[in-house]
Parts: sequence; structure tokens; C-alpha cells
Amino acid sequence: MRLQVTARVHSSSCYALLLRAPRGFNRELPIYYSSPRIDEVNRLMNGEMLSAYYDKAGIEAAVNSGGHRSVVGGLWEEIGQLQIDFLVSRGLRPQHRLLDIGCGSLRAGVKFVRYLDPERYFGTDINQSLMTAGYDIELTNERLTDKLPRSHLVVDDGFDFSWCPVDFDFVLAQSVFTHLPLNFLRVCLERLHKVVLPGASFFATIFEIPENCPSFEPYQHSGGVTSHGAADPYHYRFADMEFCCRNLPWTAIHVDGWHHPRSQQMIEFVRSN
Ligand SMILES: C[S@@+](CC[C@H](N)C(=O)[O-])C[C@H]1O[C@@H](n2cnc3c(N)ncnc32)[C@H](O)[C@@H]1O
Repeated sequence: MRLQVTARVHSSSCYALLLRAPRGFNRELPIYYSSPRIDEVNRLMNGEMLSAYYDKAGIEAAVNSGGHRSVVGGLWEEIGQLQIDFLVSRGLRPQHRLLDIGCGSLRAGVKFVRYLDPERYFGTDINQSLMTAGYDIELTNERLTDKLPRSHLVVDDGFDFSWCPVDFDFVLAQSVFTHLPLNFLRVCLERLHKVVLPGASFFATIFEIPENCPSFEPYQHSGGVTSHGAADPYHYRFADMEFCCRNLPWTAIHVDGWHHPRSQQMIEFVRSN
């Protein structure tokens, strides 16, 4: 049965539904969910939206209310630092070019821009409002805008990297495919190999389930998140990563030593020479 929230629903019960964030979305979104947007709630509750990140108006409203850090999941310092420490440990150096897919409000981007030589960082996201907040608030507060032309932050919802002016040494997608169905990763891999250097690495995080677990059953991760086969947050098996690489110049490797507080796992996709 499909759930339907209509304007005729008694206002208090409607409000209660509005306060129930969809699965997978950080619960730190009180402003967004206290704003009655019946049509959008219907789409979310009926599963017509891939993830709450596709509600661009709702994301923008949350950002305009000061929520640009919580919208990307909070833990601002911890998860930002985790990402730069990890990539540096994997060989990222200041002269390298880095593409940050789904960069959001630059939780890690601020640290990458500080570390890399000028104009070496590029970010994409479906939400312009998040990248604008990252640039205007976070990068500006850190006095780093001189190192990054605004044009390096590109709105993109189809992994269309044809705009990329350079070949990248490293690519990162942290907590992006956890919010998307598997085919998005396949499309991304099909397009991405054309803009990275041979031997380059693309690091992407996923919620991973054991090979013998049915994908249709919810899976409780040790970090407290419950993932799903066909709802956000999505889960995959490592074999799915290998499947996505078929007939493409990528090899999937399971990465150890990535300690994400919400138990996301890190996969390295290595571009063949
Ligand atoms: C949990 S946030 C993570 C942001 C950033 N990677 C970080 O670690 O701070 C997920 C981000 O992925 C973006 N996103 C979702 N679907 C996307 C897609 N199809 N293409 C690009 N970005 C996407 C969202 O807008 C959001 O900024």
C-alpha cells in the first residue's frame, strides 16, 4: 500500500509525518522537515525519489537555514579529516589533481584545498546550494578562495565529466554511492575512466553486506546505520563492485584501514594502464 499525505490530513498527524525523516537521511534536519511540503513528502514516502538529496529545494531550504554541515551528515571535523588523512596515506601530494564527486559543502574539500597546490581541487554535486555554502562560508572563512576558482565546483547529476579540463590523479566519492542505486556507480565508472590518468585510483565508500546476505533484507551495521537493497541508504556486496568493473579498465580492491564512524567501507578502483 502506498502512503499518501494529503492536505486534508489533520494538521497534527501531518506534522508528525513531516517530522519523520526518510531512511538514510541524517536526523539533523529539523528545519527542513518542519516545513510542510506535502508533494515532496508524498514522493519520498512512496519511494519515487532516489534519496532526499534529490529534493534540491528542500536541501536549499535547509542550507539557507544554516544547515549546510548537518545536511552532509554532520561530524564535520572528524569525517573531513578522515578523508584527507586517508588520501595522503594513499599517496596524494600537493601537485596532484583531485576530483571530489558529491563534494557537498566541502567538508573534506576545505582541507583538500588547503593541502593541494592552487587550482588542483575539483568538485561536483547535484546540489548547487551545498557547494555555494561550502565556497561562500567554509572556504571564505578559511581564507582559501584564492586557491580555488569557483568554476572548479560543477553541478552534475549524470557523472558527465566531459567538462573536465585535466586528467585526475585521484578521485574520491565519500558517502555518495551509499545514497544511490548500483547502476549509478556503473555509469560513473563508464564515464570516469576517460578523465583519469592510467594507474590512477578512484576511492568510493559503500555500505557493504556479506556475500551470503540477501540484499532485500535490511542490514544493521556496527556504526548504527541500517542499510537497504532498494532504499537509501543502499547496500552492496563486494561482488557488485567487481561486476560494475566488467569490460571497463577498472579493478576493484577492498581497502583495509579506513575507519569510518558509521561503518562505511572503502573500495579502490584502479585504472589500468
Ligand atoms: C552524505 S553527502 C557527502 C558529501 C561529501 N562527500 C562529504 O563527505 O562531506 C552526499 C553528497 O552526495 C551528493 N549527491 C547525491 N547524489 C549525487 C549524484 N548523483 N551526483 C553527484 N552528487 C550527488 C549530495 O548532494 C551530497 O552532497
